[in-house]
Amino acid sequence: MQLTNLLHIQKPIIQGAMARISKPVLVGAVSNAGGLGVLTTTDSSAQLLQSDLKAIRQATKNPFGVNLMLQQPNISELLPVLLANPVPVVFTSAGNPAPFLKDLLDVGTLVIPVIPSVKIARKMADIGASAVVAEGMESGGHIGIETTMTLVPQVAEAVKIPVIAAGGIGTQAGVKAAFALGATGVQVGTAFLVAEETPVADNYKQLVIQANDNGTVVTGTGANRVRSLKTPLTEKLLATIDSDTFNQLSSGSLQRAISGDIEHGTFMAGQSAGMITKIQPAKAIVTELNKGVPTIIEELF
Ligand SMILES: Cc1cc2nc3c(=O)[nH]c(=O)nc-3n(C[C@H](O)[C@H](O)[C@H](O)COP(=O)(O)O)c2cc1C
Repeated sequence: MQLTNLLHIQKPIIQGAMARISKPVLVGAVSNAGGLGVLTTTDSSAQLLQSDLKAIRQATKNPFGVNLMLQQPNISELLPVLLANPVPVVFTSAGNPAPFLKDLLDVGTLVIPVIPSVKIARKMADIGASAVVAEGMESGGHIGIETTMTLVPQVAEAVKIPVIAAGGIGTQAGVKAAFALGATGVQVGTAFLVAEETPVADNYKQLVIQANDNGTVVTGTGANRVRSLKTPLTEKLLATIDSDTFNQLSSGSLQRAISGDIEHGTFMAGQSAGMITKIQPAKAIVTELNKGVPTIIEELF
């Protein structure tokens, strides 16, 4: 099934959730542009989620998504809100949505897990996920090990549900490539980081724009591997062996970046930062990326 039909959207361009960044203003702008905006809930209470959902519904009549990052401690507080007042789509990440997947499907919410491997993609398809996001390590934020180029075609081969490609896609050519690999849509984070509608300090956006092809670095291990822009803090983190010191330096550091603290912030961004050249409205980013979507399958070859 076409992703646009499944999600009832015009353009198969999904704005990936960004912790503390993809707030209602961005979500509404992306969904109004015909893509799918996705709300972050990392720092939400039940009350904040309710007011965010109200703000999004006031901003757009189009479908939108909500992200549950399953390492968050607030999931049990947020789920009742999503079940009482169902949203079109929930994107889960960093964990297994099995305990509540059926509850969400039962209230009419599509559930789309972000996955890092074929094995997990198969498992998600088996338990009834509506689609999967296959995210490669080119992405900004928390990352897996595999690349988008190799992961997407293997996942597309392994499952029958729609596959959305994520990681390193920031241009029309990237979108076209994702479809050639078997994806039926794309999820993009870094390109939307510099949208006019994000609550990110101007110096964060300028660092993304100035970044070149080697502008990012990966810090941390296991579930804590994070890709961000090279800054004084990432140099310190890479040189830190002691885990307590590492945790102390990184705790709260995304929020410090959002506030523009160059010395102490973690400026999460993906490798596509090297291709991003300007701040623009989310609508322009959706429109530009959508030009890479093939209109007929023959266009791919
Ligand atoms: C600053 C930042 C924060 C992110 N936070 C989250 C998050 O809270 N939850 C999540 O599932 N993905 C998160 N991501 C990943 C994005 O949703 C998306 O999958 C990814 O950015 C796609 O790769 P790209 O950065 O190359 O476009 C984040 C990405 C960035 C850049």
